[in-house]
Amino acid sequence: MTALVLDGVTKDFGDKRAVDDLSFQVQDGEVFGFLGGNGAGKTTSLRMVLDIIRPTAGRIEILGRKPGRENSADLGFLPEERGLYRTMTALDTITYFGRLKGMTRNDARREGRALLDRFGLGSSAGTKIDKLSKGMAQKVQLATAVVNAPKLLILDEPFSGLDPVNQGLLEAEIQRLSKAGSTIVFSTHVMQHAERLCDRLLLLAQGRKLFEGTQDQARATLPARLLLVSRSTPAGLPGVVDAAQTGTRDGWSEWDVRLAPGGDPGDLLQACTERGFALRRFEQSRPSLHDVFLHIVGGEEGAA
Ligand SMILES: Nc1ncnc2c1ncn2[C@@H]1O[C@H](COP(=O)(O)OP(=O)(O)OP(=O)(O)O)[C@@H](O)[C@H]1O
Ligand SMILES: [Mg+2]
Repeated sequence: MTALVLDGVTKDFGDKRAVDDLSFQVQDGEVFGFLGGNGAGKTTSLRMVLDIIRPTAGRIEILGRKPGRENSADLGFLPEERGLYRTMTALDTITYFGRLKGMTRNDARREGRALLDRFGLGSSAGTKIDKLSKGMAQKVQLATAVVNAPKLLILDEPFSGLDPVNQGLLEAEIQRLSKAGSTIVFSTHVMQHAERLCDRLLLLAQGRKLFEGTQDQARATLPARLLLVSRSTPAGLPGVVDAAQTGTRDGWSEWDVRLAPGGDPGDLLQACTERGFALRRFEQSRPSLHDVFLHIVGGEEGAA
């Protein structure tokens, strides 16, 4: 089944177009990264999926149904604006949300305790929300989103406000939920999280989709970059647009080589072989998603 479908979705606020003809699908079981810079339209899109606001145009299907309250038992949502009842205890808060999603009180409490333990908050179960630190409260809010083991979990900037240890904890929790069968959509502008978690990702800028695909497909949008250790310069070989010497030892030089867009490292290797080019290393470096993001979004803004 397809967990989420957006088809030509547009959202206008007055004369501001926040989301522009956005179409994509998230398949069952995927971890899907919803990426884009500030103001790209991520929160607006997710709020339409959750039926908090309505699209100006287009169609949304969530777990095979229209957006609406009746989906809530199958959904988990961590909103960008965090907010809990300040005078409720951590465990009561999680139990309350579990009950709202149709769990029995016992199940909700048991799962709440397990979540608090996993999140390092076991000893704070009876602490009121307003006595918790911001990051601790955020972990409680995350627990309210996942207490019902949702079929579809939607997290808007879940990593913001968490220290590195807790960011790691959250990554582990996302992986655990994914293994247990949840489909997960999360927004972020920190590419390292996406890099470690996503099966597929979508890149949004100014409300428009610039890219959708796997991480490998995203990396393939960047011209190839290679590390070569050779006796002579690769400059001038077919496809090479830049070759910088980064070191030399015993007559062997190390080169940072960039190919033209669409250039194939296989063709370069073949050219090296044909010319009897002495090679000790020939490695394709893997661009980071951060580089991909800057390349795709930067290219778009450069063109605009
Ligand atoms: N209620 C609103 N009224 C008017 N404009 C809005 C409203 N909500 C969002 N916008 C505008 O829509 C655009 C997209 O905002 P959105 O919050 O969806 O971005 P985002 O990708 O979530 O950004 P961030 O990474 O900063 O959270 C922005 O230009 C924003 O100013
Ligand atoms: Mg946002």
